[in-house]
This record gives sequence, structure tokens and C-alpha cells, in this order.
Amino acid sequence: MFKEELSQLKKQNLLRQLVSRSSAQGPVITIGRRKYINFSSNDYLGLACHPEVIRAASDSLGRYGFGSGSSRLLGGGSLLHERLEREIASFKSAEAAMVFNSGYAANTGIIPALASGKDVIFSDELNHASIIDGCRLSRARMFIFRHKDVTALEGLLKKEKKARRRVVITDTVFSMDGDIAPLDRIAGLCRRHNAFLYIDDSHGTGVLGDGRGALAHYGIGPEPWIIQMGTFSKALGSFGAFAAGSGDIIDYFINTVRSFIYSTALPSSVIAASLKALKILRKDEDDIVGRLWTNRTIIAEGLRDMGFDIMGSETPIIPVMTGSVKEAVNLSGYLYENGIYAPSVRPPSVIEPRLRISVSAAHGEVHLEKLLKTMGRAKKTAGTRQSAQG
Ligand SMILES: Cc1ncc(COP(=O)(O)O)c(C=O)c1O
Repeated sequence: MFKEELSQLKKQNLLRQLVSRSSAQGPVITIGRRKYINFSSNDYLGLACHPEVIRAASDSLGRYGFGSGSSRLLGGGSLLHERLEREIASFKSAEAAMVFNSGYAANTGIIPALASGKDVIFSDELNHASIIDGCRLSRARMFIFRHKDVTALEGLLKKEKKARRRVVITDTVFSMDGDIAPLDRIAGLCRRHNAFLYIDDSHGTGVLGDGRGALAHYGIGPEPWIIQMGTFSKALGSFGAFAAGSGDIIDYFINTVRSFIYSTALPSSVIAASLKALKILRKDEDDIVGRLWTNRTIIAEGLRDMGFDIMGSETPIIPVMTGSVKEAVNLSGYLYENGIYAPSVRPPSVIEPRLRISVSAAHGEVHLEKLLKTMGRAKKTAGTRQSAQG
């Protein structure tokens, strides 16, 4: 019944297929019988396989078991959940915080709690799909502003004054372009125009501001009108998400966010891993954040020098624009043949097809060199290569 749709997708090079590893997730992964250098992961600091993180998760199992049994409001949370909420609030310089089961659950739950039919949302056009879905669920009036266009946002804020609440929503680091939102100016606008600012710091946490995130990067302090959302699943190598803000707003979310109220709490082992990862990040004795940025610079500059278009990437997320879906798939296929896993990203995930390279502190010199050499060869042979993937 769905064969026709699937065959259309295949014809357009848009058919997606699952890839399953037979190894842990890290700088090198095994797919089938082959090893690949992995440039697909958001585990920017290599914490997913950190021995202390693994130990913390496994130690917690003896005390708390695995499943959490029910939602937080029905007793599904443990002391670890509470501790993580205190720790992440302090890390984000916020009064309070709460844990969510995933970033997707946070965005699709919080946004409808913040804004409803009486409210207005202003959202960057490149915001993550989970924000878009949250906005749709909210039924608030929506205004999409051009990517990072602060002037356009100001115009909208001046025009749309008659709402109960006005909420500006932006990713801090854009997940497919790797550029950074001009938060200093956006926050200034929100202050002047009396609007809430909701930021998705999923790719900024552990990466920007010495790891503390986008607000620290810009030196913006906590404000009762700023809500910071972020994930434990990327640079922190764990799973789940958080919102941090004023005590009142977090209490309000606990009482109103449906994805929080009506979903079983994360297992304590996941929370224990997040707590440990956060502790490692806060101390950063091995300068992992510094290593991430060194690696990122090597790859970004190397690709630019070879003439690749990496758009406005400013972070470890480095898109390589290919011009067509076919070329994105071909390039990813060529890397795959050569032992490198870096997936293509195609519509509808993005408007313009690309290869998405994600650099980690866990990559060693050999991994970086191999990527640059293979990309160099790919550039020379472009046009003569055939796709190795669907
Ligand atoms: C910017 C952004 N927000 C939210 C999410 C969703 O987070 P999660 O994977 O924890 O559901 C992602 C990616 O996964 C993301 O890139």
C-alpha cells in the first residue's frame, strides 16, 4: 500500500534507511563487519563511552533497578532526578530546573505550556523540528522570522503587541548549519519589548561558553523571562533534556507540561550518567572542551582551504553543501566506501542538501587527517563517483 510512496522517495534519492552499529558509539564504530571513523555523532566530548559515566550508570542499577515505574508526579523520580535538577540549574545559573525524557519531549511539551491561542510566537526559520512541532501544538499565532534576522524580529515585535504573552524562540547552535544565534541582540530585543526568550541550547551545552552554553558564551545572566532548554544527549553523552529558568516558571511547567506529566520518568541509570557527565564537564580536568574546538578548527579550516562550502559554520557541526541531493548521497557513499561514516542530510530535514560532519573531542589526529584526505580525493573525482548508498 505504501510501495508507491517509497518508490517515489527512492527515485528522488530521498529514501531513508536505518543503520545499526555492532559496537559502542564513539570516534570509531562498527557497521556490519567493517570499522568506520564516525563523524555523525553529537557526542561532542566523547562522554558517551567515558568509563566514569558507564560506571555511574551501572552502579545506580544495584540501588534503583532499571525502569522508573511511573511519571515523576506519580513517584517515578529518584533522589538522582532531584540532584540532577539542582546541578543543571546551578550549571546554567538558573533558579530551578527540571528534567525531560528527551529534547523532543521538552520542546513539544514546554512550548504549548508557554504559549496558547492568546499568545504569539516568533520563531527562527531554521529552528529544530521539535520546536516547529511544539509551536504547531501550541495553537499560538506564529511568526517565522528569517534566519538570525534581528531587524525582522524587531519589526515583528513592534507590530505584534496585542498578545497575552509574546515568546521568541531560537536554537542557540543550529543543528544542521552549525552557526550561532545572535543571542545578545535577541535578548536585548526581548528585554526592550517585554517578551519571553526560549532558547534551545541542545548543541550549545558542553560546547559554547567553556561548556556552559550559549548564555555564558554571550555573558548573558539569568533573567526571569529567559527559559533555557537543552539536552543531556549530545555533548553530555547521556540521554534526556532539561529546562532551566525561574523557580515560578519551572513550577508552572511541572503543573502544565503534558509531555512531563503523562510520560514515565527516565530510568535512574540514565540520570546517574548525566550527573557524572556534568561533573566531568564542570571540572574539565583534561580540557576536553578545548580539544573539541582544536579538532573543529582543523576540520573547518581544512575543508574551507580545499574549497568546500561549509556555510556559516562556527561550531563542531560542519555542513558541506553539495548543491544536489544526488551529490550529497554520493559524497556520503564515497566516504562510506573509504571507511568514514558521515551521513547526508536531505529534504525535508533541510532545504538544501548537504553532508553533515560532526566533530568530537574524541577524534584523534589520524581520524581528522583521514577525513580531510578522503574529502580532498572526493573533490578531485566529483562527478565520476557513483552512489554507494540508497
Ligand atoms: C536543536 C535540537 N533540539 C532538540 C533535539 C531533540 O533532542 P532529543 O534527541 O533529546 O529528543 C535535537 C536533536 O535531537 C536538536 O538538535
